[in-house]
Amino acid sequence: MAARMNTLSLLNPSHVSLRPRDSRFSHRPLTLRFYTSPNPNRGALFCTCSTTNGESFVLTTPLYYVNAPPHMGSAYTTIAADAIARFQRLLGKKVIFITGTDEHGEKIAAAAMAQGSIPLDHCNLISQAYKTLWKDLDISYDKFIRTTDSKHEAIVKEFYSRVLAKGDIYQADYEGLYCVNCEEYKDEKELLENNCCPVHLKPCDSRKEENYFFALSKYQKSLEEALNKNPNFVQPSFRLNEVQSWVKGGLRDFSISRASVDWGIPIPNDRSQTIYVWFDALLGYISALSDEQEQPDLLNAVSSGWPAALHLIGKDILRFHAVYWPAMLMSAGLSLPKMVFGHGFLTKDGMKMGKSLGNTLEPNELVHRFGTDAVRYFFLREVEFGSDGDYSEERFINIVNAHLANTIGNLLNRTLGLLKKNCQSTLVVDSTTAADGNEFKDNVEKLVDKARMHYENLSLSSACEAVLEIGNVGNFYMDERAPWSLFKQGGTASEAAAKDLVIILETARIIAIALLPVTPSLSWRIYEQLGYSRDQFDAATWGDTKWGGLKGGQVMAQPKPVFARIENQTEDVDKGVAVGKTMKSKGKKMKQAQQVAGA
Ligand code: MSP
Repeated sequence: MAARMNTLSLLNPSHVSLRPRDSRFSHRPLTLRFYTSPNPNRGALFCTCSTTNGESFVLTTPLYYVNAPPHMGSAYTTIAADAIARFQRLLGKKVIFITGTDEHGEKIAAAAMAQGSIPLDHCNLISQAYKTLWKDLDISYDKFIRTTDSKHEAIVKEFYSRVLAKGDIYQADYEGLYCVNCEEYKDEKELLENNCCPVHLKPCDSRKEENYFFALSKYQKSLEEALNKNPNFVQPSFRLNEVQSWVKGGLRDFSISRASVDWGIPIPNDRSQTIYVWFDALLGYISALSDEQEQPDLLNAVSSGWPAALHLIGKDILRFHAVYWPAMLMSAGLSLPKMVFGHGFLTKDGMKMGKSLGNTLEPNELVHRFGTDAVRYFFLREVEFGSDGDYSEERFINIVNAHLANTIGNLLNRTLGLLKKNCQSTLVVDSTTAADGNEFKDNVEKLVDKARMHYENLSLSSACEAVLEIGNVGNFYMDERAPWSLFKQGGTASEAAAKDLVIILETARIIAIALLPVTPSLSWRIYEQLGYSRDQFDAATWGDTKWGGLKGGQVMAQPKPVFARIENQTEDVDKGVAVGKTMKSKGKKMKQAQQVAGA
């Protein structure tokens, strides 16, 4: 064991006095032993590391537990992150979009055992299920980190040693009530009857063991200052109050090792303990940045893009990200991420949808039945980002049919049909000429600006709404101008009708780009219908939402619906009757799938 020193003289006195002594706390360090590092001079290495990474934009999803396959709740964060990543790329930022899996700890080991598997085999399987789902959901991640990756382990150990060198790790006995599903010791006062965890509704275990502790209390003041200085650090703003009150309420040191858990990264110099799964997993945001070809160390990883611009998380893991994580980074002399955004829960019957409760919704099943764009659009449009949202199949079908099939898809399809019939599928003039002096164009541009502002503020639902509004004004224009009857009149009326079609198709083009962060496949299908190549689509930027892209002479593709209305079932739902037969039996199948997923 490195430099084990049973002496108090090495300590900063405030370090000792800030530690909780209050007997009301059910979990608390009971006896203390202190350690210092063999190489205390290393402490300054990272203090200058607040990387200026130009225009790069690093954003992360949580690293998902691999106790069970992904469900719609886990897919939700990733879809939102993907929309933000795609939007930032359209703005021209160098985006590094990080996701991955959290594979260590008691909960994962127990899940593997329940499947009759060894932990790593189990992790390989579930981690792959995440990757497959991300592919099916068009998730454009740049880095996928697994906490069982060797580069991650190296970085966690180095980080641990740095915090140890800072004098922020000590050993003490620990006693408390532990929720394995949260992988967290709980305060008695936050528990329900019979010491049940309020999230997982399962009783917590009483635990007592000797652990290593992180001196979180030492960072109370620095955290308060950091939050005051940068109130945007926690978003939405109402979550900041919660974080501030936790900090104000007094920070207690937390245990960062487990003596009873084998499935984890061993504590450097003490193989009898493994590193607590959260102290391990949070580092995934940094280890993910490390290039495969490079020596896996903190300096290399950090210089590849740290600090992150945005951690997207669910509200249940806010404390870890907005309190523990910044304090850990301060201890190691690393910069803090710019923002932690805590979104709400997808609920089913008012309960958080989750693997541990087994009330999940299967994303594969939804994608299979309704397509990727529908799934992405529904959850981003329907759930205000930051708040909870309940899933209803009826609402799902109504929304995607009304917005994607009718407002957008049908507008494009009927315009292309008219263009084919009357103009040989060829645009008669540039869209700029067609809209000259027409205030319709100004309305579209205003709505585009609105969408951009909402994307920038992470108000994804409002961004979708603004884009949909472009579709609505397009439909209104089309119905008001009625080009089909103008064509019948011939002469100048017919020329005006041909211009109207250019205006509507330009509107559809703008919708495609403005909705690309949310519905990338649909956007491509729209572009293809407008006669663009895949390369042209891939090169699009937010600048292409400006009016004037379509040019006279451009030939459109054969009209083909870009978004198929969800048939039969929808009609039943629209009529307000019970859902159709197919739906019901599929629903039954889905329930069975959920039971497996939630096992
Ligand atoms: N492994 C930790 C995160 C470590 S990050 C360094 C973890 N994993 S998790 O799989 O349990 O949850 C991952 C994310 O999914 C969390 O942000 C959580 O809030 C989110 N969701 C899980 N169920 C959810 C819903 N029902 N609704 C929305 N998000 C949900 O926590």
